[in-house]
Amino acid sequence: MSVHSIARSAAIIAVIVAPLTLQAQEKSLPQQIADVMITLAGGVHPGLRFTHTKGLVVTGTFAPAPSAKTITRAAHLQDAAVPVTVRFSDGTGVPNIPDNNDNASPHGMAIRFALAGGAYTDIVANSHNGFFVGNGTDFLALLTAIAGTNEKSAHPSPIEQFLGTHPAALKVIIDSKPAAKSFQNLDFYGNNAFIFVDAAGGKHPFRYQIIPVAGVVKLDSATAAKQKPDYMFDALKAAIAKGPVKYTIYAQLANPGDPTNDGSIVWPADRKRAELGTLSLTKVAANSDSVQKMLAFNPIILTNGITLGDDPLPQLRSAVYALSVAHRH
Ligand code: HEM
Repeated sequence: MSVHSIARSAAIIAVIVAPLTLQAQEKSLPQQIADVMITLAGGVHPGLRFTHTKGLVVTGTFAPAPSAKTITRAAHLQDAAVPVTVRFSDGTGVPNIPDNNDNASPHGMAIRFALAGGAYTDIVANSHNGFFVGNGTDFLALLTAIAGTNEKSAHPSPIEQFLGTHPAALKVIIDSKPAAKSFQNLDFYGNNAFIFVDAAGGKHPFRYQIIPVAGVVKLDSATAAKQKPDYMFDALKAAIAKGPVKYTIYAQLANPGDPTNDGSIVWPADRKRAELGTLSLTKVAANSDSVQKMLAFNPIILTNGITLGDDPLPQLRSAVYALSVAHRH
């Protein structure tokens, strides 16, 4: 082998190896998102989620509506009612965030449907119709802008710059202002699109909507300011003690051409909604803190009759949720 050919081989190897080495050194997108979330939470809180940290676990049943089985063959959406475990949460990784804090919104609602043989499937929804952004890179940029802004930041600050170019994220922040009256008066949205598969194999792209039977009620700012830090969780416990707290779950069905790959773009309200069934929450978990530590909801725990579509967020979310689960154990 000539000096030239050795040099050429070395150059080729260098070209191949250099990007691999670089990639190995760089953190993955899920890890980078996790790192900023931990920073925004004020550091590590042992044993807790690094976002949606403050929460309460309740249980009950889900009874499917007759229309559900016409669009999906999923087992829990046929005829029989199934047990559910639901975790309500406040936004952010701050463990004791007051429920009326702007950053506690969007609030979270995660639902686990029990299936035969110990299997299960999840819905992980929040209280805003439309997510901040449509992909993981933009989500990292949003979190980084929040972390890079403080009261001394020059204007436009990093978050002002981000919101100035991302109107969907700005809308979530503006809409979070009137605090909710309670969890049982709050509506929740899956935001990411999935696909229902019916008995004949027909495909129906959709997004979940979870609407409270008691109606959506927001507080005016003076009333919101007077609330105790845990007023939403306290009100939920009090309501369940009196009788079932109910929500109707719907699938908002996409029209042909509606974007299914960007959860920040809300589909028009005139889209057909199929009623999937009624959620009845009847009991607060006696040991909610230890139960919620063990529970690991995940938007891609699906079941036969529900599949992923082209929305990039569910899989990215799943990777970051797994890091949060590892973090608390
Ligand atoms: C890039 C986008 C997102 C990222 C990186 C992300 C990340 C996370 C992480 C790390 C957790 C903690 C999970 C655990 O420790 O068990 C979490 C929880 C949660 N997220 Fe997301 N999330 C994203 C988008 C969304 C969206 C679009 C929704 C709803 C529409 C949502 C709703 C929730 C809820 C309700 C919880 C609490 C789950 C529970 O009660 O255990 N997230 N998220």
